Amino acid sequence: MTKINYQRVTGMHDVFGKEQLYYDRVEEIAKNIADFYAFRRITTPILEEKELFTRSVGKTTDIVEKEMFTLETKGKDRLVLRPEGTASVFRAYIENGMQSDPQPVKLWYYGPFFRYERPQAGRYRQFWQVGFEMLGDEAPVLDAKTILIAYNLLKEIGFKKITVSINSIGCEECMADYKKALAHFLKERTGIVCPDCKKRYKKNILRVLDCKDPKCKQVFSEAPQVLDYLCAPCKAHFKQVLEFLEEVAVPYRLDPFLVRGLDYYNRTVFEIALNDNSLVGGGRYDALSKALKTDDIPAVGFSMGVERAVALMKEKEIKLKLKRKKSVFIIQVGDLAKRKAFKIIEELRQKKINVFEAISKDSMRVQLTKANKLAINIVLIIGQREALNDTVIIKDMKTGKQVTIKQDNIVREIKERFKKS
Ligand code: HAM
Repeated sequence: MTKINYQRVTGMHDVFGKEQLYYDRVEEIAKNIADFYAFRRITTPILEEKELFTRSVGKTTDIVEKEMFTLETKGKDRLVLRPEGTASVFRAYIENGMQSDPQPVKLWYYGPFFRYERPQAGRYRQFWQVGFEMLGDEAPVLDAKTILIAYNLLKEIGFKKITVSINSIGCEECMADYKKALAHFLKERTGIVCPDCKKRYKKNILRVLDCKDPKCKQVFSEAPQVLDYLCAPCKAHFKQVLEFLEEVAVPYRLDPFLVRGLDYYNRTVFEIALNDNSLVGGGRYDALSKALKTDDIPAVGFSMGVERAVALMKEKEIKLKLKRKKSVFIIQVGDLAKRKAFKIIEELRQKKINVFEAISKDSMRVQLTKANKLAINIVLIIGQREALNDTVIIKDMKTGKQVTIKQDNIVREIKERFKKS
């Protein structure tokens, strides 16, 4: 085997072979769900202006502080490889005038995202997300619908025992009161929390609740809970979200310390984890429009990490339901036969017949072996004689029976055999 002096970039991975089929399957399921719920697909650029994320995701979040791949163009524009999709979709919604479409505008995406994280299992520097976003409507039923879609996506993939962790972080006003209470609680404990939490205490106190340090987790398990600080409208909103979820029997668990690691959320936030792996994250982000200084645009959405979904599919031995189309294999022997076969493959393709081949090979044995490996029952053989007579041998690999037919009749013959099989 030859060697190459280059390796893939740290934290990034090639997707190919069987692995690619898992990614395709996740995309296919997401697309079916999107069609069912009438979401339109959106594809935004990989590069965005840096400020889009510093303002929306928040300056003091891990994503913005530590994890963005930043670059400067020759024209001195400060760009980043998008670390997440919500801010991009929000930008695209406004920039493309979707505010004048019927609301809510429902969009979904599937694509790569980039975060300069410490690579480990389930954490990559380039990873894929499927995301669903609904913009332009603040009704609590949409929060529940977003969660239901995430739940159904995981169910369709084949996961079981799915429980949604949910919380409400209220609005700016509830949050102001809550942050005061949290600061008061933390003031007496700054000596026992990690250095990062000490910084968070000053810069963005809410982030202490996502600290992964076990000691901090222990400390904050006794902290005041945001649900106790919700104003009446936020409380009513949350109550309705939970009622709608109960209506469709989505299992949920209240997690009073769930705040999510991005600053644009308000009111409902949720996550779905399987085997301690956070797979889905989302919530309402009416606050994003304020951060980006646009008209008030309420919105809600979620995204799912595809790598983590694929790893779990393998772990749980979820089979890829590969619906293989009925196919034929075409074998050619000799120069003239190769030329004829080359053309027939195209003609069959135009008639929507799936054809496998090994057109670059000359040996009958090699080609037959490939047809056998693919377990294809109908094999077309063109040798020197058939090429000259405009005929083709059609062989049933199960029974071993073969007949010679005119090339003009190939399509009809194959379609009849497909019908019978
Ligand atoms: P997030 O929680 O940062 O939210 O990411 C969502 C999901 O992406 C995570 O639950 C995880 O499965 C996956 N993920 C995140 N980082 C990595 C990584 N480094 N490697 C592999 N997978 C990863 C968001 O991105 C929000 N935009 C979600 C949202 C949509 N909120 C409203 N709409």
